[in-house]
Amino acid sequence: MTKTPILIKEVECKGCGLCVSVCPRRVPVISEENGRKKAVVFEGRADVCMKCGQCVAVCPSGAIVVEGLDPAGFEPVRDSGVSYENLSAFFKSRRSVRRYKKEPLPMEIIEKILHVAASAPTGTGSCSTGVIVVDSAEKLAEISSAAYEMYSSLDKALSNPIARFFISKKAGKKMVGTLETFVMPGFRWYRRWREEGAGDELMRDAPAVLLFTSPVNEPEGEMNCIIAAYQATLAAKTLGVGSCINGLLPPACNRSPAIRDIIKLSRDREVYACITLGFPKLGYKRTIPRKLAGVTRV
Ligand SMILES: Cc1cc2nc3c(=O)[nH]c(=O)nc-3n(C[C@H](O)[C@H](O)[C@H](O)COP(=O)(O)O)c2cc1C
Repeated sequence: MTKTPILIKEVECKGCGLCVSVCPRRVPVISEENGRKKAVVFEGRADVCMKCGQCVAVCPSGAIVVEGLDPAGFEPVRDSGVSYENLSAFFKSRRSVRRYKKEPLPMEIIEKILHVAASAPTGTGSCSTGVIVVDSAEKLAEISSAAYEMYSSLDKALSNPIARFFISKKAGKKMVGTLETFVMPGFRWYRRWREEGAGDELMRDAPAVLLFTSPVNEPEGEMNCIIAAYQATLAAKTLGVGSCINGLLPPACNRSPAIRDIIKLSRDREVYACITLGFPKLGYKRTIPRKLAGVTRV
């Protein structure tokens, strides 16, 4: 391996230039020596390599190795056989599933879901997304209690003008608006139902929760987590597992010291996306009509 993150094996390289063409940052270039073309790393751009692996995936002669990417992990591409019609039907029948059977979710199924989530696109080409699997009833209950506590004290603080002013300064006016008009009105009912023993609508009494984490300073870390989490929901559906994106849990995980402690979240990471998972209690008979809010052509 050279000092650059990419090794182009001189003997194997046929100089076809596909790696040059595919690289988003033009790290490989074609050089010609004694009438023979070959791809080489342009040293001046080696440091901008995103280690995305596209050069390895496109190379017909297996001439490229990228630091940190196991050569054995580059499997031959298979035709997925997914047609537009099938994909459209799949997406239209996807639902946020909020009612789960009590049955635990086997870890082998969770691993399969994570395997698919790992192939999600990432903003920087390489993946720094981590996942915390919570599937112990005891830990789920502890997290739930701490989340209710966190939102209850936030609700209380928002009713105090001085505390509200400081929350608004820190989190922004838009966030305070969302909390006051959307989150808290729902949360107060959730809390009431929970106190009455009528179930946990915050975590939907799910038998498993996946928390997607990223380093705080990772460019696009939040977006990476959201996309991976959504990809996980689709993988779950193919395995007969219901799932729902949960927007309430990530802020609770990040702000509640108790939850940070339970999930062993290191100081340099935050939870940016969460999904609840479980075998669905009910099935849907119909799709739901949805339209984009507007499409313009310029
Ligand atoms: C960013 C985001 C956050 C969400 N947060 C929650 C949540 O906290 N609790 C919940 O039950 N559903 C949550 N959902 C699911 C939406 O409510 C759901 O997508 C919407 O009701 C449409 O239903 P469908 O997914 O079945 O089409 C969230 C969805 C998104 C995209």
